[in-house]
Amino acid sequence: MDWGMKNRISRIIKPDTGRTVMLAVDHGYFQGPTHKLENPRKTITPLLPYADALMITRGVLRTCVPPEWDGPIVLRVSGGTSMVGESLSNETITTAFADAIRLNVAAVAISIFVGTKHEQQTLANLAKLVDMGEEHGMPVLAVTAVGREMARDARYLGLACRIAAELGAHIVKTYYTEGFDKMVEGCPAPVVMAGGKRCDTPLEALQLTYAAISEGAVGVDMGRNIWQCDDPVPMINGVRAVVHEGLTPQEALERYEAVKCECDADADKEEVIY
Ligand code: 5RP
Repeated sequence: MDWGMKNRISRIIKPDTGRTVMLAVDHGYFQGPTHKLENPRKTITPLLPYADALMITRGVLRTCVPPEWDGPIVLRVSGGTSMVGESLSNETITTAFADAIRLNVAAVAISIFVGTKHEQQTLANLAKLVDMGEEHGMPVLAVTAVGREMARDARYLGLACRIAAELGAHIVKTYYTEGFDKMVEGCPAPVVMAGGKRCDTPLEALQLTYAAISEGAVGVDMGRNIWQCDDPVPMINGVRAVVHEGLTPQEALERYEAVKCECDADADKEEVIY
């Protein structure tokens, strides 16, 4: 692997732990103003100090993230569909590679929809992006998207992860499911877990994170379970404790509670000042 490619990957997957906590905020690219991400700047800003990388589209990056932030950007470059359209899987590449370079990103991200009517098209998108990535030293993260109709079982996700890695993806993002360890074993690229729908409690989200890490994920690329949580900053700190420090879910919940106390105290101080 060339120096530039290795350097970019090591900005995302931290060399001291070999792990990463990526913050996913790209949901609007097909969902529009997702709950709690209606004002992206407001949601993202307090979380930036705790994110190892930010997964985002170019529109929200340019308008809502200060260019002074020196964390790595994983730029979502696929899309072209919406929640209300005919088919979510009918994706194309929506961002020129030159723009990704202009934005100084650390990786580009694309969804693949294995088993849908647009399987061939989205896999060809990935292959094309990997060719460009190899040419420019830019890692490609492939998301094993699940269309409305696809099951999220290990057989399906394992197939999709393996195909993404075979086509040359440098990082694969997928969902947690029973048999996750086998999926990771069958995927020669590093795997990060997407959080999926918001869990009922912070402890459940920490348990999900713990399970994925114990079963071989190099980290998470998590969105809703962080910023839809009532306490997003404590939540991302809890997730970091599991991913980077190897804390158990219960220990990480204590970290969450401790950070929540600090945040509440800071909020009280602000109220006194005003
Ligand atoms: C959508 C994505 C999202 O970034 C992904 O779903 C991660 O967010 P969440 O943790 O909310 O599932 O790639 O295709």
